[in-house]
Amino acid sequence: MTKDYQRLAIVSKLFTEKTLKDILLNKTGGKNVSVTGWIFGDASAKGDSYLSTVDRITIEGIVDEEPITVKVVVKSLPRNLGRRKTFRSTDFFYNEIIFYSKIVPVFDKFIKSKNQSHLLRVPKCLSYVLDGENDFIVLEDVSVYGFGVASRQNTLSLAECKSILTGMGRFHGISFAHKDQHEKEFYNVADQLIETYFSENHRNWYKNFHALILTVAKDAVSKQCGKTPEAQKFMKINAQELFNISIELCGRNKFPTSVVNHGDAWAPNFLIRTIESTGEIEALLLDFQLARCASPVTDLSLLIYSCTDKTLRDEEFDNLLEFYHREVANTISVLGSDPEKVYSWKQFLKEVKEQFVHGFSFSLEAVPISMMEESEAFDLDIIKGDEAVDLSEIFNVKLITDPAKRQRLADVIMHAIQHEFI
Ligand SMILES: Nc1ncnc2c1ncn2[C@@H]1O[C@H](COP(=O)(O)OP(=O)(O)O)[C@@H](O)[C@H]1O
Ligand SMILES: [Mg+2]
Repeated sequence: MTKDYQRLAIVSKLFTEKTLKDILLNKTGGKNVSVTGWIFGDASAKGDSYLSTVDRITIEGIVDEEPITVKVVVKSLPRNLGRRKTFRSTDFFYNEIIFYSKIVPVFDKFIKSKNQSHLLRVPKCLSYVLDGENDFIVLEDVSVYGFGVASRQNTLSLAECKSILTGMGRFHGISFAHKDQHEKEFYNVADQLIETYFSENHRNWYKNFHALILTVAKDAVSKQCGKTPEAQKFMKINAQELFNISIELCGRNKFPTSVVNHGDAWAPNFLIRTIESTGEIEALLLDFQLARCASPVTDLSLLIYSCTDKTLRDEEFDNLLEFYHREVANTISVLGSDPEKVYSWKQFLKEVKEQFVHGFSFSLEAVPISMMEESEAFDLDIIKGDEAVDLSEIFNVKLITDPAKRQRLADVIMHAIQHEFI
């Protein structure tokens, strides 16, 4: 293995051999460390990452006289300034680094004190820089532990969906119990998150793209569902109204039921693995760029709408809600708080009714994008100079031509209207 210093500098000016040394130290807890070489893996598939550059690196070294190999995933700010500004990448990096550097350590300490360390499944953060110019975050590559993507384009099976609901339910449950027992400490860290998407500040950034998404959604509904009353109702909805609702719901960070949310809970941001001895599927959460403090229903609703199909929802929707809530309640309980007081079934159902609209609304973006083929990936070359271009010029989502794909989007809309979420 060689030492290609130039390749390191492409990640970030501050990503150096010293960083790699620190990574080996953090990973092993050893004392004497030397780095013997590193190698970069293949770039990720086109269309997988717009807001950040994602690299996979294998680092070799010697720790306390033992040879060691560590695999990491590094997310760094895009080199191109125009791209950084177009996607507001620095905001998203700030938020994700706050999550890993401030929130995870507090949650880890809390669950460890209860002998429940297994409840939080996120990659270990091994290094980061947060200065708004040279930002990067280094995470342990969890494919080493057998975690891999569930599915990007296709919807989830019942077993996959339940495994993700378990991971998500535990994640929210930890927040509930921690806040219940250490409210000051909870808000000390949770208050450092910023709203990266649904806030008045970002209305203009999102406006044209959001209008485009609504056009695609209305086209799908009108072609697939014609003149049904549901379709008629949806045709009257406007993007700004939906955005206002999401601003309000995502802004509820000091409600009794506000917990740390993932924020971008669609399938590509979960990895799963099958545990050989039991055949059980286990999920891990990734990508906390949109993390926020809000009702957990804002996460749950996006997951259900962006990653399940009509058949699964028709057969299992109520069961999935129950399954998720049971996991939250169990987690709250094993961590020493009272689920009935902290997040009862009744409170949960009230929020389902009131707040599923957020995940529905966000899924109008996630579903068409998740159905795109790799060959249809957005073209970043449109961003020429150092200045931002309008998001809708890059994310120029087209009307869906495949009737089956159009139907999938229309089914989501029908479900939300029939359940009176909008
Ligand atoms: N720690 C990790 N271990 C293994 N794979 C990872 C890890 N982090 C990210 N990935 C892979 O890279 C993809 C992009 O990472 P993600 O954090 O979601 O970046 P983005 O913000 O660009 O969506 C993920 O969907 C996942 O497949
Ligand atoms: Mg992601």
